Amino acid sequence: MNRRYRKTIIAGNWKMNKTASETKQFAEELKVILPKAKWCDILVCVPAVNIPAAIRAFKEMRVTVGAENLFYEKSGAYTGEVSAEMLKDLGVKYVIVGHSERRQLFGETDITVNKKVHAALNAGLHPIICVGESLEQRELGVTMDLISLQVKSALAGVAPDKLRKCVIAYEPVWAIGTGRTATPEQAGEVCTFIRATIRHLYGARIARSVTIQYGGSMNPGNAAELLAQPDIDGGLIGGAALKPDQFVEIINAANQE
Ligand code: PGA
Repeated sequence: MNRRYRKTIIAGNWKMNKTASETKQFAEELKVILPKAKWCDILVCVPAVNIPAAIRAFKEMRVTVGAENLFYEKSGAYTGEVSAEMLKDLGVKYVIVGHSERRQLFGETDITVNKKVHAALNAGLHPIICVGESLEQRELGVTMDLISLQVKSALAGVAPDKLRKCVIAYEPVWAIGTGRTATPEQAGEVCTFIRATIRHLYGARIARSVTIQYGGSMNPGNAAELLAQPDIDGGLIGGAALKPDQFVEIINAANQE
């Protein structure tokens, strides 16, 4: 982390978990134990149907509500999809784009990720752009090539002033939901590489202002070490973000110099 230059963001990615009433219950439990944290921003990305409930439930708390996906068209015949404007209108600030589950299960590509990044930015939302290699790709030694391609494709055509609104999340696919975390060194190495890629494209000043998160089995036991890496500015947390006490422990782990 480097709080001098950029925000630290601890974000939950709830995936397809919790009903609207469970969202309310989570918020009530969190409220009791949430530190008056000033050392990081706190974000909870919830299923689209739960966004209004989440906005209501987290209203009095310093917790921002995000979405897990969007579609890139403004409106039209796209049954089942949700636009950036619709999210914005509900009070959403952040939206996850290109999560590996969407890439693997729902046909998301680098091209659709790029379109979604533009749609989010045009609506005034902050995209959290997910990149990450599979185990096979890591073993083949092509991790950095792949990350470079994913970052460059996602950001194609994004102007420098808009880049400041983007968050990048490095999520090695082999670490997501598996309990197998990247070591702090492995995660730190790729996050440093992501910043170098952005530096190459946009220059040093902008690159150092971009928040880069790590995601993939982050939990109370490994968060502090991961967040101690100079280029890891937060976490995108699945499983451990579903339990208020574990989520708070990770928030507390971000309280370090
Ligand atoms: P996990 O999920 O923390 O359950 O591994 C992270 C993510 O998919 O964003």
